[in-house]
Amino acid sequence: MCGIVGYVGTRKVVPVLLAGLRRLEYRGYDSAGIVYNHQNRLVRHRASGKLSELEAVLDDHIGVESSIGLGHTRWATHGAPTELNAHPHSDCTGDLVVVHNGIIENYSSLREALKQKGHTFCSETDTEVLAHLIEEHLIDDLAAATRAALAQVEGSYALAVLWAKDPETIVAARRQSPLVLGTDAEACYLASDIPALLPYTREVVFLDDGELAVLGKGQYSIRQLADGSEVHKESTTIDWTATMAEKGGHRHFMLKEIYEQPIAIRSTINGRIMPETGRILLPGLGISDEVLTGIKRIVLVACGTSWHAALVAKYWLEKWTAIPVEVDIASEFRYRHLLLHEQVLTLVISQSGETADTLAGMRRAAQFGSPVLAICNAVGSTMAREADGILYTHAGPEISVASTKAFTCQLTTLFLFTLYLAQLRQSIDPAVQKELGLQLIQLADVMSALIKPMQKNMQAIIESYYEARDFLFIGRGLNYPIALEGALKLKETSYIHAEGYAGGELKHGPIALIDADMPLLALAPQDSSYPKTISNVQEIKARQARLIVVGSEGDSQLAELSRHHIFLPKVHEELNPILYALPVQLLAYEIAARRGCDVDQPRNLAKSVTVE
Ligand code: M6R
Repeated sequence: MCGIVGYVGTRKVVPVLLAGLRRLEYRGYDSAGIVYNHQNRLVRHRASGKLSELEAVLDDHIGVESSIGLGHTRWATHGAPTELNAHPHSDCTGDLVVVHNGIIENYSSLREALKQKGHTFCSETDTEVLAHLIEEHLIDDLAAATRAALAQVEGSYALAVLWAKDPETIVAARRQSPLVLGTDAEACYLASDIPALLPYTREVVFLDDGELAVLGKGQYSIRQLADGSEVHKESTTIDWTATMAEKGGHRHFMLKEIYEQPIAIRSTINGRIMPETGRILLPGLGISDEVLTGIKRIVLVACGTSWHAALVAKYWLEKWTAIPVEVDIASEFRYRHLLLHEQVLTLVISQSGETADTLAGMRRAAQFGSPVLAICNAVGSTMAREADGILYTHAGPEISVASTKAFTCQLTTLFLFTLYLAQLRQSIDPAVQKELGLQLIQLADVMSALIKPMQKNMQAIIESYYEARDFLFIGRGLNYPIALEGALKLKETSYIHAEGYAGGELKHGPIALIDADMPLLALAPQDSSYPKTISNVQEIKARQARLIVVGSEGDSQLAELSRHHIFLPKVHEELNPILYALPVQLLAYEIAARRGCDVDQPRNLAKSVTVE
């Protein structure tokens, strides 16, 4: 939801801003803009549409002599994605500009009051009030004026301000939207997310809610917004590299990230399973074994794909730990009447660690005294820092809006956590635990051998189905959430209407949709639900649907029943959801690419949803 970059240092600023925006474009791509200080004047360039539109406008300005500026890539909330609504937004004089990620909730009353005072507005955005409000307070100290203005503001923000008359300073502040500083000897950087900083520095400082930072060449200071008191913070060294956030020869990030899954899963497992005994080690979990042993209920909270991972985990946790589990969509959970207490573990799952609803859900759970464990991918994200405990997924940066490797790494982490809890509570036979642990270790190799041939063999399926208008997915048990995930992946990347159902639910309504034109993908591994799934497949075949099955290698019965099949090696049935995620991800990718869709940046979406 909007990406912010800032730079003050010794380099030419325009290429630094554009490179940063390129790496943040996944956060929003309705419009983009930059501003820099040139000879004590602020020069602003904006364009609607993708970043490439702005780049075209900036062709003649790449080498401009300026070493301080801000950039923004927008996901529209207030006002259409036009050039006038693109950030940066300016005050009446044009000497002060603001870039912002978040929502100013009281913007309409502020706007009216500022208009009464003679301010002229040029856009329909909520952000523009910030520029005029700071202007109203500004005498000679930009940080003080920003603090004073923000005291009147309700809502969420990560923002950065530039003033023509203070040509070596950027002021930034955050409340409920992410912001991270990068530092080196000669410069300071600012970004909504770490990948934008990686080409320049891996030393970062995470800004917390209610903090304001003043950035200069190679120096920064941080204060509390509330009382102006100074805050001392340690920097963190990030171990992601710049190339991890590049396409590496693949056509799209989504495909690269699908291919990266075996490596990402290995990194997620690394050091957490003792191969000799199968014991699980989760050092630095942050929640004591004593607390975990006393847990009476677990509530899993997440959105989108992360919610699908939670649905799979319910099956695992209940089976292997015998603890009752509830799964909630975060936007529902945060407003529900909650029955939580110290012996209910709240487990939040998020790739970004910044999803507004999930964050709000975890904060509400904490108010009830519920210990909160976060499973996150983004190092140092708000969720990771605020939760009582953290389990990182180690998928590396995920850039494509459609989540793939983060999902399978979430599943891997949830499976590890299940085994850890089971081990603590002695609810699993150690021999079974060892077997499951070893199979999980081997799974990455199984997947690694599979992806390329699967992609190749899938081409006939893609040609038959890429023009479909609708698509159904079914699965049972552990594979039901994978049916939901397959439908979500397909609809978000290719705009084909797709629905996922539990196989047993078909005859309660959705079967009415089936005719000879309806494509249906059935997840049908030879697991304990297999006989029931085969009955579903028979029912579907009897109604002439265009049936694709994903099943176990050598299953001739399935091959006969279906028009197309994708066969996967047999692994322990508990691990099927991780393995079966692969074909549905690849199918969605290939169909979207074949339809010529903007695979990595689907319309109307953004990678991290930091507004409600
Ligand atoms: O960063 P999070 O995991 O909290 O994000 C949750 C969802 O917004 C995300 O999974 C979304 O559904 C993806 N676009 C799915 O591919």
